[in-house]
Amino acid sequence: MPDSPSPLSAAPAAPSATAADPRPALRVRDLGKRVALPEGALTILDGVGFEIARGDSVAIVGASGSGKSTLLSLLAGLDLPSGGEVELDGTALSTLDEDGRARVRADKVGFVFQNFQLLPSLTALENVMLPLELRGDADARGPAEAELRRVGLGERLGHYPRQLSGGEQQRVALARAFVTRPSLLFADEPTGNLDTRTGQAVIELLFAMNAEAGTTLVLVTHDDHLAERCRRVLRIDSGRLVAA
Ligand SMILES: Nc1ncnc2c1ncn2[C@@H]1O[C@H](COP(=O)(O)OP(=O)(O)O)[C@@H](O)[C@H]1O
Ligand SMILES: [Mg+2]
Repeated sequence: MPDSPSPLSAAPAAPSATAADPRPALRVRDLGKRVALPEGALTILDGVGFEIARGDSVAIVGASGSGKSTLLSLLAGLDLPSGGEVELDGTALSTLDEDGRARVRADKVGFVFQNFQLLPSLTALENVMLPLELRGDADARGPAEAELRRVGLGERLGHYPRQLSGGEQQRVALARAFVTRPSLLFADEPTGNLDTRTGQAVIELLFAMNAEAGTTLVLVTHDDHLAERCRRVLRIDSGRLVAA
């Protein structure tokens, strides 16, 4: 399954995600998503296009049901569009099969969800080790421990999700998303289930990681604090981009 023969020795020559890389992190052209329902075809997204520069931070905002989560899934290669194209780090996702898209996600993408989505039967440490193990890294434990310490959970390595608060679970989810050093991090309402103060701590961590690692952030949010912290805001209304 892993296709990288030397994941640990590759660091100095890694071809992707360097600061000098001129390709945009994301290029989206005429993206559409339609689904067939018994009542007829439903257009969820229509004619969406934009570019996001490497290292940028972008908030996607809009009313509930406007298509934000659908757009994020398409950008991350979790779902396929009905038309148009997503290029992630210069790779057109439509040219890849499911395995190819899974590889791009494993190499380049981190995802954080509103409801954390940690695996309940794994400890915090095991949750964070998982993406490294899945891509075949020889040492998953060391980087996973370091990442959990970075989000302030060095004392909670052996705890299960049910033993952690919502804010702590979201910090584990952040550690899991960042441990692979993705070039892009997608987050769908990452503070949506957290109180304001806890949400603020998660926001600070997100932007610290954006600053330190140059990770491009694409965040769906209703949270004004979070949208204000982003350099750009994209607004979606009924499946169309209304401001870029
Ligand atoms: N697979 C699907 N089948 C039918 N309708 C869908 C599907 N996915 C999303 N929708 C509909 O598309 C619209 C946009 O959904 P979504 O992207 O989740 O919006 P948001 O995240 O902005 O609240 C909603 O009306 C939703 O019910
Ligand atoms: Mg949504």
